[in-house]
Amino acid sequence: MITRKSKREIEQMQKAGDLLVKCHKEIAKMIKPGITTMEIDAFVERFLAKHGATPEQKGFSGYPYATCASINDEICHGFPREEKLVSGDIVTIDMVVKLNGGLADSAWSYAVGELDEQGKRLLEVTKTSLYKGIEQAEVGKRIGDIGHAIQTYAEAQGFSVVRDFTGHGIGPTIHEPPHIPHFGLPNKGARLKEGMVITIEPMINEGSWKSKMDANNWTARTIDKGRSAQYEHTIAITKDGPLILTEQD
Ligand code: CO
Repeated sequence: MITRKSKREIEQMQKAGDLLVKCHKEIAKMIKPGITTMEIDAFVERFLAKHGATPEQKGFSGYPYATCASINDEICHGFPREEKLVSGDIVTIDMVVKLNGGLADSAWSYAVGELDEQGKRLLEVTKTSLYKGIEQAEVGKRIGDIGHAIQTYAEAQGFSVVRDFTGHGIGPTIHEPPHIPHFGLPNKGARLKEGMVITIEPMINEGSWKSKMDANNWTARTIDKGRSAQYEHTIAITKDGPLILTEQD
């Protein structure tokens, strides 16, 4: 069932979002060649505990870490690890914060050291595609409008859109209906209503959109070793338009 949140519930999710943003801003300062995603994961655990929040991904369907850390050709659900990041890597840190019952979910891709031009473009196009999708998140529009805007833009820029993972409703649990695909046709799918809270989280690839699963049964990576990037916000549908609960500036 697609739930709709009260103003109070959305305010609580906004507080979780504010804390998540603070955490991402600290991570942005930490990301440099030589750091490991395991160190970032440990930082997130400490940071959230210090602020009375919990990393909601940990334990979700048995997921073992506070963050997902996906490097280069990994699309999503990469495990934090002891391997040092090197200049030129793209790393996506994804986390769900729970604070006083409110949930917020935001993934952010980071460039490690100096990124090549194509890598920079991939990050830029992926971030812009997220905002193209968010523009469509208005009362009365349909879910297909979001995916269509993202796909049209990203493909026109020469990149591809991952099909096997989608955005989703959020609250009271991490994953609620409906699915929010990042591709599709306009004027299709469920209508967006006031009070719905969803994630939009396009995963955009350099090469093929197709993914394969690692032996850990979590981590998805591109089939052609092309790099993948992702930006994700949690968004409340309000009568005044999309309200981004995890906005960074
Ligand atoms: Co997420």
